Amino acid sequence: MPARPGRKNATRRLKGRWLGVHLPTKRPSVWGSTVGRWRYTGPAQKEIRAQTGLEHKKMKNESRSDSISRRSLLGHAVGTAGILAALDAGGQANAQAPPASGGRGGPRVRESFDFGWKFFKGDAPGAQQTAFADASWKEVDLPHDFSIEGPFSQDAPARGQGGFLPTGIGWYRKHFSIPESYRGRKVGVEFDGVYQLSEVWINGQYLGKRPYGYIGFDYDLTPHLKYSGDNVIAVKADNSHQPNCRWYSGSGIYRHTWLLVTNLVHVAHWGTFVTTPQVDMGSATIQIKTRIQNEGQTAAECRITSTILDQDGIPAVGAQVSESQIIPPNGEYEFVQQIKMDQPNLWSLETPYLYKVRTSLMDQGSDSYDTAFGIRRAEFDVDRGFLLNGKHVRLNGVCLHHDGGSVGAAAPERVWERRLEILKAMGCNSIRTAHNPYAPEFLDLCDKLGFMVMNEVFDEWKQNKTANGYGQYFDEWSEKDITGFVRRDRNHPSVLLWSAGNEIGEQAAANGVEMVKRLVNIFHREDPSRPVTMGCDRIAANLTGREVGTPPEFLAVLDVVGYNYSDRRAKRAETYYSDDRHAFPQRKFIGTENGSMGGVRGDYSELGPASSGAVPRRRGTRGTDFEQLWRFRRIYEYVSGDHMWTGIDHLGEASWPSKGSAAGVLDTCGFEKDGYYFCQSQWTDQPMIHVFPHWNWKGKEGDVIPVLCYTNCDTVELFVNGKSFGVQGYWFPRVGYWGQTVERTTVSRTTSDLHLTWTVPYQPGTLKAVGVKDGKVVVTEEIATTGEPANISLSVDREVITADRRDVAHFIVKILDAQGRIVPTADNEVTFEMQGEGQLIGVDNGNLASNEDYKGSRRKAFNGLCLAIVQSTARPGRIQMTATSPGLKPSSVTVATKT
Ligand code: GAL
Repeated sequence: MPARPGRKNATRRLKGRWLGVHLPTKRPSVWGSTVGRWRYTGPAQKEIRAQTGLEHKKMKNESRSDSISRRSLLGHAVGTAGILAALDAGGQANAQAPPASGGRGGPRVRESFDFGWKFFKGDAPGAQQTAFADASWKEVDLPHDFSIEGPFSQDAPARGQGGFLPTGIGWYRKHFSIPESYRGRKVGVEFDGVYQLSEVWINGQYLGKRPYGYIGFDYDLTPHLKYSGDNVIAVKADNSHQPNCRWYSGSGIYRHTWLLVTNLVHVAHWGTFVTTPQVDMGSATIQIKTRIQNEGQTAAECRITSTILDQDGIPAVGAQVSESQIIPPNGEYEFVQQIKMDQPNLWSLETPYLYKVRTSLMDQGSDSYDTAFGIRRAEFDVDRGFLLNGKHVRLNGVCLHHDGGSVGAAAPERVWERRLEILKAMGCNSIRTAHNPYAPEFLDLCDKLGFMVMNEVFDEWKQNKTANGYGQYFDEWSEKDITGFVRRDRNHPSVLLWSAGNEIGEQAAANGVEMVKRLVNIFHREDPSRPVTMGCDRIAANLTGREVGTPPEFLAVLDVVGYNYSDRRAKRAETYYSDDRHAFPQRKFIGTENGSMGGVRGDYSELGPASSGAVPRRRGTRGTDFEQLWRFRRIYEYVSGDHMWTGIDHLGEASWPSKGSAAGVLDTCGFEKDGYYFCQSQWTDQPMIHVFPHWNWKGKEGDVIPVLCYTNCDTVELFVNGKSFGVQGYWFPRVGYWGQTVERTTVSRTTSDLHLTWTVPYQPGTLKAVGVKDGKVVVTEEIATTGEPANISLSVDREVITADRRDVAHFIVKILDAQGRIVPTADNEVTFEMQGEGQLIGVDNGNLASNEDYKGSRRKAFNGLCLAIVQSTARPGRIQMTATSPGLKPSSVTVATKT
């Protein structure tokens, strides 16, 4: 192939592989390059053309990098079918571009396949057959988790690991029709996750199985479809082999499903890969790899246009048109393009700006496919830890499990959005998806809200942690699962790191190094742009010499070494990572799981001997370790961050009568525990004070009660019924004391802890804390001894929600005294009466030891609070919610639902 005008360095190696990078002779404000890679190893292009009669058309636009300004794109017709297809007359981007000229079929369709399923709990032999009688089966919409429907039982086969909830087999069937217009096209179905051992049939034909319940997958339905009449898809989810997971997994088709219709020549499933190999404030280079698949019987000549759209859907730079390629039948080709953008809007934690690439497939096939991405530069540095866009960022992380509390594993997107918003307000900026792939929309939320994500794939490799765990499938499925996982998630700017596993048994095994190499190579093959880590819990064991630790050769395979509980084995709570930094100066560090806080929200039953003045030991906490860890972290930058176990209480990992783990700083309702405010005091600058415990200690008059405070102020003065109990302040970090980074110069006062304490003889009344920063009063907080419960306050997180059978409203009940103060010990039973266009899908109070039904309409308040979650119907209207309780004044609130 001759070098084309205006390009140099064009090289080509035949035998099916392109290596050429085409650079413009002079650098315009927009430029690009196109490289391609064949996955097809059949006859050369020339022979295919001869066989198929396809002549190589000399096109004016062939292989060019368009230098088209955004203005000219909007103002004038340009000679590129793909660009025209992407824009309507008003210059706005269409969600689905019409087919480009020369295309077959029609536009790509990706529609929800969630509604109108039938469900049977139990085995139903023969249910894969089209004619199977399912009229008596229950009607359900997906996502659907049949475990969360309960009941709780101490004898549940999943035991405490599964939250004492039922598991078993569930069958799903859906009848659907396919329009005649889809004939000749490709029709597929996508599952974002089925727990577990799923098997799928279409019209009685077996499509396949997927053992791993957290992985997304798809099937081609085309050969088995009827274009007139009824089609039946049947899915068996088998979660009967227990235990198979260390936490609550949920059961069934608990994530979204999609119907996908494309032409036979189309962008492959998860077929785009967008990276930003060069980023600075002034410019960025965006690399787009696009796999085009030809599933037709004849060769197809294709070009693609890649258009980068900004947040408003306006082209941000000129589109790039690829060279023309002939893709043989049942072949695929990967186009590689580079686009340079001046003055990009960088994706950051504060301004998570998202672009998208619109891929338009032209000529013989036509397709339009959008890929959201962000432009950011993420680096790990041996000395400086983590840098985002060149700026040092301390990763203030939490680990999360995937359940949404009362809604189980089938958590609507808004449930996670609200939880993430609350975590963001705590100063959290990084999430570890413990210990499995999440729903795709979770990562969309992290992209949108500005979180980094450590995206984890497994909790076990071959060595099982539970009797029926993933280990038995590892050899056969691990490569396929990792490949799908990375291809699905690698365009999310939030995804910072891949994690190959958590506390994997093979860390210390003889074949561990060989195994970790194999997995890390798969990650690198699928995404060379991101580092790989793991949550390793045996590193410190090496220090003692008494236990078999994770050997340095194993850790050397990881791009960034992940520490779970760096202090757990060697008791190095003051040195944490520093011993290893001395031993391995080139190591890059991240805390993958450290410093739990947890505890039960509002529970101060373990205040300690009444007059000791000791720091309250909150049940289940390891608060002191956490403070030590974060003292260490405030001084040293080289550890890129830490991920606290956990951000939110999760179901499972429990001992009866508890249903879950209280490790979180939020409870399952998303209500804040004291630990939440510890994090906020360390991770945010907006002045805050949190004083605890509550001040309702009837019968303890005269006893000394320790009063604690988390704050980011310099000093706090505590007043009890108007009388000062003194000013307290931090002397940590003391200026110049440890030498390295000091985040804020703080006047030395009284404590090196990261909390303040007063000992106060209890008398009913008011505690008032006054916070001072830089010599000025910036915030005050009051807590008072309350009266008895008198009123309900009902509030809702949003006044308008979408009428789409997916969106939800969170109704929050607070039990108040006659003066409108939350009664911190109230446990009144509340009844939720709902009318209008909604469905009550979960009630909760955060008390993991409660046996109450998540799907009922009543819930006792727990320490003053409870929650109801209502999902919209498809009809616009109103949802009216009233909360009542005997002896209390009821409260109502209304939400509008709109399309
Ligand atoms: C960790 C483990 C987590 C969780 C936690 C409980 O070692 O990685 O999954 O089990 O312990 O404390």
